[in-house]
Amino acid sequence: MSIRRLPPELINRIAAGEVVERPASALKELIENALDAGATKVAVRLHAGGLELIEVADDGCGMSQAEMRLALERHATSKLPGDAINQVTTFGFRGEALPSIASVSQLMLESRIRGPDGWRIEIDHGERLGEGPAALPPGTRIRVERLFDKVPARRKFLRSPRAEYGACLDAVKRLAMARSDAGFTLDHDGRRVLTLQPAEPPARVAEILSHELDRHGIGIDCARDGLRLTGVIGLPTFNRGMADQQFLFVNSRPVKDRLLVGALRAAYRDLIARDRHPIAALFVEVPLDEVDVNVHPAKTEVRFRDPTAVRGLIVGGLRRALDEESQRSAAREQAAAPVMWTSSESYARDLERAQLTPTAVREEQQPFGPVSFVPQGRAEAAIEPVLSYPLGVARGQVAATYIVAEAEDGLVIVDQHAAHERLVLERMRAARANAEGGGAVARQALLIPEVVELDEPDCDRLEGAADELVAMGLEIERFGPTAMLVRAVPAALGKTDVPSLLADLATEIAELGGPLSLRDKLDHVAATIACHGSVRAGRILSVAEMNALLREMEVTPRSGQCNHGRPTWVKLGHGEIEKLFGRK
Ligand SMILES: Nc1ncnc2c1ncn2[C@@H]1O[C@H](COP(=O)(O)OP(=O)(O)O)[C@@H](O)[C@H]1O
Ligand SMILES: [Mg+2]
Repeated sequence: MSIRRLPPELINRIAAGEVVERPASALKELIENALDAGATKVAVRLHAGGLELIEVADDGCGMSQAEMRLALERHATSKLPGDAINQVTTFGFRGEALPSIASVSQLMLESRIRGPDGWRIEIDHGERLGEGPAALPPGTRIRVERLFDKVPARRKFLRSPRAEYGACLDAVKRLAMARSDAGFTLDHDGRRVLTLQPAEPPARVAEILSHELDRHGIGIDCARDGLRLTGVIGLPTFNRGMADQQFLFVNSRPVKDRLLVGALRAAYRDLIARDRHPIAALFVEVPLDEVDVNVHPAKTEVRFRDPTAVRGLIVGGLRRALDEESQRSAAREQAAAPVMWTSSESYARDLERAQLTPTAVREEQQPFGPVSFVPQGRAEAAIEPVLSYPLGVARGQVAATYIVAEAEDGLVIVDQHAAHERLVLERMRAARANAEGGGAVARQALLIPEVVELDEPDCDRLEGAADELVAMGLEIERFGPTAMLVRAVPAALGKTDVPSLLADLATEIAELGGPLSLRDKLDHVAATIACHGSVRAGRILSVAEMNALLREMEVTPRSGQCNHGRPTWVKLGHGEIEKLFGRK
């Protein structure tokens, strides 16, 4: 095999493969350069989602003719004055973007420093086409056309102009959040789609994120061990089907880092269904020597020196904020009930989907089959005044699944399984918190220990977690290669199908095998256990049982939403009822 040195055009082409995957990544590099040049205004123009044209004009420091030539050379950068790669505060520092983009497109670079006239250099797929004077205000303007025209392999993977436009818009938003002190405009196909004046970070974030976040957002500001976390997150009930509204920054650099995304997920665990995603804009500030930004060509991943501390700050900080807000969210849910009421169809779809997730219990699916449509409502006479209870007094049960109650200000409908599941989880949490404070989790010993057959890897997993499970009131031990012996279950559970609880727990532990902290794991496992201990949909309840459930919900934190983030109850106010009947 003979070794040869690659010609520079080919090296640039290879680098382009890493740095410029699609129009949005080229756009990101160009805007970053503008911001690094100290621009206070960045004007972006796109045609056909950037496939036909990407233009970025800035009012930054500009480049001299000599600098322009250098800028188009590989590994030429003005941003690494010394060798301290870990001290960079600029977006760029690798000196790869411009030559890479120029190697796979037709590129026009125009620039002017304060004083002399401007200059222009044109490059066609890596070859210098020409240069000459240019008329432009101080700053830089770059036009990129025919991107990937000569790179069929890349072209093949490009999506529709609409989809590419979506990605470009996302890139602009992320950088606009990172640098709220700069103004931005974005034009697409000749139409102005975004105008952002310089602003303070919270105002910028609010402007870009859904405006609904005014009502459904929680401000975050916490610090620990020299790390700081600021930003805003959405209430769990205000979630999305895609993770497209998660904006994460490390030292003002937009990242899509897996550790941070995972921490965000963990903070919402059991508040939100697995296939739903929270909304968040979070800014992590860490000392420069605690983070390495040079691990990814597009610099979207970072490496922390102490990942556990960063994760702890995020999970802990968000969790605390979410807990504090849980009361407020319940009140809002009440206000938003008529909306949920009318969107019951999508709600049912969510329910269905949630049942397909592994934590959902097989049994649950049955009541939503044809059986549940057999009328089963029962009504009982009012024996108690409704006045003093926010969730009212139970009047009956519908489809053996929903409790109907009368409150002073309206009609309340409770999803009995979702509500009860939540109560059990909160009970278990309280018991665990108590145990951590020196008390003990109440256990209910089985009169005859139960033997549960499982396959060997599942037994290994459960055995490995046995100590943690004891702390939650579940006492198990190995019983031969393919069986476990269960001696006690958490008292909070009541009567339980022990074999299916163990099977679910084993699956849970297998899935959580990642780099999660012990605490998170326990929380998740507790949710699985809670699901087993709760009243099933389809069970007939007595009026006393229903009222007991309502009363417990009223005093339990976070009882307004189930462990999958859906509401546990809705209220139809008198006013709404009157509207339904045209009385108002
Ligand atoms: N918009 C701009 N304004 C001023 N200088 C720029 C601009 N874009 C690029 N440059 C110069 O060109 C150099 C190379 O840019 P680039 O290839 O993106 O590498 P990097 O940003 O990693 O330094 C930059 O270091 C900078 O000096
Ligand atoms: Mg750059």
